Amino acid sequence: MAHNKVKFMIKSFENKVAVITGAGSGIGRSLALQLAQKGCHLAISDINEKGLKETVGMIQTPGIKVTSAKLDVANRDAVYAHAEQVIADHGKANIIINNAGVALGETIENMSYENFEWLMNINFWGVVYGTKAFLPHLKAAGEGQVVNISSVFGLIAVPTQSAYNSAKFAVRGFTECLREELEIDNCGVSATCVHPGGIKTGIARNSRVGKLGSFDKFTAGKDIGDQFEKLARTTADEAAEAIINGIRRNKRRVLIGTDARVIDSMQRFLPTGYQKLLEVGSRITRKG
Ligand SMILES: NC(=O)c1ccc[n+]([C@@H]2O[C@H](COP(=O)([O-])OP(=O)(O)OC[C@H]3O[C@@H](n4cnc5c(N)ncnc54)[C@H](O)[C@@H]3O)[C@@H](O)[C@H]2O)c1
Repeated sequence: MAHNKVKFMIKSFENKVAVITGAGSGIGRSLALQLAQKGCHLAISDINEKGLKETVGMIQTPGIKVTSAKLDVANRDAVYAHAEQVIADHGKANIIINNAGVALGETIENMSYENFEWLMNINFWGVVYGTKAFLPHLKAAGEGQVVNISSVFGLIAVPTQSAYNSAKFAVRGFTECLREELEIDNCGVSATCVHPGGIKTGIARNSRVGKLGSFDKFTAGKDIGDQFEKLARTTADEAAEAIINGIRRNKRRVLIGTDARVIDSMQRFLPTGYQKLLEVGSRITRKG
């Protein structure tokens, strides 16, 4: 059986153009700074102009072209207009990192549709829009990578995280399907799905916390941002380094942090039993 030789993927970042959403803080900012150091030109965006401006100010690498734009990834027309603008500014795009994301804690019973749709529009539809708007340009460049940020919550379900779980499981299915289609196409473009564990960023601090029902006992009087930052083990810089290595090695899946590797193993060895463990863990924590 004759096999087509797989076309060359991204091996060097020199003179490539990377598009990063949600680059005004956290993982997106670290990705921008590290890719610039590797000689990659940047088109960065965020809904938060202040954070984005700070990121631009931090990129001091000579010879790197940086363009920045205020962008709401939940706005499909705006994402497509952004893709056109990036091509007008840079002449090409090689890497799209669909990184922008938000968090939400709320039980399904108490979940408002407003909150559910807010999160899905950013964390799921934002990834779909970013992928579809940039894919033709990546193919035209002949060498490209779509990098979609899922989560360990795209591997396991966790109480109060139904919206986030729904979006991140969907990002994983979407990206794995994309990877298969691109491999069959053998068009020089590939796709990577990223599953970070806890990363020390402002995501929890900026999250929406809805009605938690009996889980209120768990969070009452506690600063969720503080708690999260204590629990999260990996820095945004370490996460960005892992993602960049994953692009270079054209990995299908990038797990970030020991916690992500433990969760991945737990899901493989106890594909449904892990739920029981989480339920027992939640009960004990709520009593404590
Ligand atoms: N921090 C973690 O522990 C962790 C774990 C797993 C996955 N992730 C994922 O990593 C990605 C980056 O998150 P982070 O931890 O760096 O958080 P962060 O809050 O530091 O960064 C997210 C960025 O996205 C931006 N953003 C929010 N809504 C947007 C919108 N509608 N349009 C454009 N930009 C928007 C925010 O302004 C912010 O700058 C997210 O997709 C998140 O779900 C984070």
